[in-house]
Amino acid sequence: MDYLTEINEASSLDALDRLRVELLGKKSRIATSFAALRDLPPEERQVKAAELNTEKEALTQAIERKKAELQEGELQTAIAKEAIDVTLFEAREENGSLHPISRAMEEIIEYFLQMNFELRTGPLIEDEFHNFEALNLPKYHPAREMQDTFYMNDGMLLRTHTSPVQIHTMLGAKPPFKMIAPGAVFRRDYDLTHTPMFHQVEGLVVAEGKQISFANLKHIIIDFLTHFFGNFPVRFRPSYFPFTEPSAEVDVGCIFCGGAGCRMCKNTGWLEVLGCGMVDPNVFKAVGYENVSGYAFGMGVERLATLKYRVGDLRSLYEGDLDLLEQFQ
Ligand code: DAH
Repeated sequence: MDYLTEINEASSLDALDRLRVELLGKKSRIATSFAALRDLPPEERQVKAAELNTEKEALTQAIERKKAELQEGELQTAIAKEAIDVTLFEAREENGSLHPISRAMEEIIEYFLQMNFELRTGPLIEDEFHNFEALNLPKYHPAREMQDTFYMNDGMLLRTHTSPVQIHTMLGAKPPFKMIAPGAVFRRDYDLTHTPMFHQVEGLVVAEGKQISFANLKHIIIDFLTHFFGNFPVRFRPSYFPFTEPSAEVDVGCIFCGGAGCRMCKNTGWLEVLGCGMVDPNVFKAVGYENVSGYAFGMGVERLATLKYRVGDLRSLYEGDLDLLEQFQ
């Protein structure tokens, strides 16, 4: 029986089904032969019917067997195709990326360099004169307690802010100048928004006479914050720093809620981002400057970065969590 060979050679389930219709369907030879049985004399009819049934049974079985075989074949092909070789070494190229703190730092520095500020650095280990006294924070000044200082045995300390670079700069340069001092600072602090080491960028502008005014300060700060955060309102709030007079803290309209009030801005609609003011005469006196004016500002890089990149827990940035850091490609 040739049909059996044909069935065995069917190359796919579709081809097999077409064959099934052809061999056993309503218009097949077997179906017509069954229909023709009634025209046969009874004794012949019985013999012929038995023959047809045997043939139909053989074909049906052959088709079922082939069908099972083809299905198994397709399954194996699919399994083989989808298989994952877990032992295969994948030479994936992973791109590193700048840490969000470095990125924010670079962005801040770039802005001020473009504004003709020069870059200054100072030591991480300071003495009391540079970190406190010259900045109008005498020994028993209560403002020293705002800063939880790491002291060393020899009376030196880890700088608590970048403001001492103001002192180094003024002691070694003559006005006029515009400088920024980025770098690490240290305080005994650890919670959602504080780590014992963090970064600040200090700014100082000094010129002879009364050339520098609060308006100059306001202009540069508003322009910088607009560059950094985009178009959010900026406000100056009267505040106190020992090294500036008058002093202000600067807020931007909350970038999370647009000023409506939320958890991030503690329902005030504002986020505090930096401190600034006109350099206090006592600071100029400490470095021997006379007849000059200037402004200064200081900002926390972590604070700016976590706001800009919307990081809830500052500490997470220092845990080396690649899943987190990879989001800042
Ligand atoms: N040094 C201050 C701090 O660590 C920040 C600061 C405020 C710096 C006002 C300034 C300034 O230069 O004018 O919190």
